Amino acid sequence: MNDKGKRVLSGMRTTGRLHLGHYHGVLVNWLRFQEEYDCFFFAADWHALTSEYQNPEIIRDSTRDILLDWLGAGIDPERATLFIQSHVMEHAELHLLLSMITPLSWLLRNPTYKDSQTEAAGDTLATYGFLGYPVLQAADIIIYRAHLVPIGHDQLPHVELTREIARRFNHLYGDVFPVPDPILTEVPKLSGLDGRKMSKSYDNAIYLSDDEAAVTAKVSSMVTDIRRARRTDPGDPEQCNLFPLHRLYSPAGEVERIRAECPQAAIGCVECKRLLTKNLLIGMGPLRERRRRYEEHPGLVDEILAAGTDHARRVARETMTRVRDAMKLSR
Ligand code: TRP
Ligand code: SF4
Repeated sequence: MNDKGKRVLSGMRTTGRLHLGHYHGVLVNWLRFQEEYDCFFFAADWHALTSEYQNPEIIRDSTRDILLDWLGAGIDPERATLFIQSHVMEHAELHLLLSMITPLSWLLRNPTYKDSQTEAAGDTLATYGFLGYPVLQAADIIIYRAHLVPIGHDQLPHVELTREIARRFNHLYGDVFPVPDPILTEVPKLSGLDGRKMSKSYDNAIYLSDDEAAVTAKVSSMVTDIRRARRTDPGDPEQCNLFPLHRLYSPAGEVERIRAECPQAAIGCVECKRLLTKNLLIGMGPLRERRRRYEEHPGLVDEILAAGTDHARRVARETMTRVRDAMKLSR
């Protein structure tokens, strides 16, 4: 099999717009994979529901936003199959069937589950659906007979479980599923405006959909090296929040200048922020423009989704025929 024949599958929970952390941590990898493999990327709205079932409108809005963010970032519907999880109902059937063969002990020792069952978290996540989160994820992956699953480190236990479940199915009913391999994607150290990890929940993120005014205001509010309380205090770019962004967005000459001048207090943080703003706007410009074009043509997004869903469904239905045969459920 050549690499284009290998299938890559990944999904994102739809719980908010995407920010620069998502872009550099996940989407740059997807952009690379879509050149090399047969890619399936989907919006995991059912997975979002496991935690946001009290706020379904957030999921609806985020699903649209995330698709626009992907397309804006350059995910190409001509190369990758894009769809929404809940539009391919076969995931639910496979989830049910896999739930029959998945030992409860495997789910109870899943770190995501264990960490969520704290007193502070209350009962919100003490649901059947949340416990079964990795079973649904396994169904998402193996229903497309995917070979490779790009994920962040936090998702590794879920893909390990997927492998266990696929093996158990094959052992019980015969070889239907390839056992998929995780691809751990490097997440660059990108902190948010306040220095903590960039995250929606900290309200410290620069979003792919932020307009120029928002990006400008956010950069000027960024916390810099705390030792530079005064303009004349020397700083250390390695201790500064801005520097990882300069590395990603600024020309080498400017990065070198900051590296040399910040420890001498020769450049001030105001000037340094002005440079970053300029370079960020240049770097993010094409994404924002592409996103806006799709936003202005909602019909086009609907068409992309319809085509992606259609393709995904065809593959999923074919798998389900084999699954029902193997489980003696066929008529
Ligand atoms: N659980 C993943 C996350 O929170 C999202 C997801 C759902 C996923 N199904 C998947 C990722 C299948 C990879 C493959 O990020
Ligand atoms: Fe950070 Fe730039 Fe200020 Fe140095 S000059 S502390 S790198 S913002």
